[in-house]
Amino acid sequence: MKKTALVLTLAIANLSVAMAQDADPVLTTLFYLVAALVVIILLFVSAVALRLLNVLHKLNNPEGAAHSSLWQKLWEKSNDFKSMDQEEKLLLDHNYDGIRELDNHLPPWWTGLLYATVVFGIVYFVLYHMTETFPLPEEEFKTEVASFALLSKSMETKNGPVITEENVTVTTDAEALADGKQTFMSSCSPCHRPDGGGSVGPNLTDNYWIHGGDVKNIFHTIAKGVLSKGMVSWEGQLNPEKIRNVACYILTLGGSNPADPKAPQGELYTPAPPEAQPEASSSAALPDTTIVVE
Ligand code: HEC
Repeated sequence: MKKTALVLTLAIANLSVAMAQDADPVLTTLFYLVAALVVIILLFVSAVALRLLNVLHKLNNPEGAAHSSLWQKLWEKSNDFKSMDQEEKLLLDHNYDGIRELDNHLPPWWTGLLYATVVFGIVYFVLYHMTETFPLPEEEFKTEVASFALLSKSMETKNGPVITEENVTVTTDAEALADGKQTFMSSCSPCHRPDGGGSVGPNLTDNYWIHGGDVKNIFHTIAKGVLSKGMVSWEGQLNPEKIRNVACYILTLGGSNPADPKAPQGELYTPAPPEAQPEASSSAALPDTTIVVE
């Protein structure tokens, strides 16, 4: 019994050290929660078993029933109660106006607790401050921050930088557009119609946009929403990549002319000329339409 308990404790200690080193914190927390639950259940079961044993014992030895139970003995021992007839011996010899004092010691459970905290304190001090076997909270925090930085860096090298409103670009990747279409059909079509022609929300297939028709504008509208007008903010439910995908899917709907579309809303948006074209030649050919506001 003792051996199994020892092996179990060692196994749990080993596991928790191994988990603390490389598992993610949610798993580690879950592990400790489950371990605590198991310990509580074990304690409960042992208490019930002890109680049952006690009852059985009493049933088998009816004459011994007058003896105090195991629990009672434990209770008396841990409190070190003195019987009344010992009072004479315990009386101290001072007497204040008839008030006498008994020389009762602190109960063993109390002193036991004190010694345990002292031992714990010494072990903690040696392991955490002298040999530095285990990290202090500040160090733990630093290693966690460092490992997160490493993780996000490895994610970036794998998937490219995190997509934001500032760096989002149009993608024509079929997989991304298929993902965008799926999101659009499940989350957006109730208000914008499956073909994008618009119902509660505006028509997304024309060249008129309330909040701008550039991919960056569309990304912004989807992420932040227009709460006052009934357009949901999606950044809590869709990750940046999904928002980029659905924005690019919307752009593919441009000019699809669905039947019975909602009337254009907002301003006409003309896409900027592709970046490859030199600026000078196009601006020289076009008449100057700049309006100077004084
Ligand atoms: C509950 C209805 C509703 C849902 C669901 C909804 N929208 Fe909207 N959406 C609107 C409304 C209403 C507007 C107009 C906001 C305004 O008038 O400023 C809008 C505006 C937009 C605009 C800006 C259009 C413009 O002219 O500038 C885009 C882009 C857009 N929605 C995309 C989406 C996407 C993508 C989804 C799904 C992830 C979605 N919407 C889900 C109601 C909705």
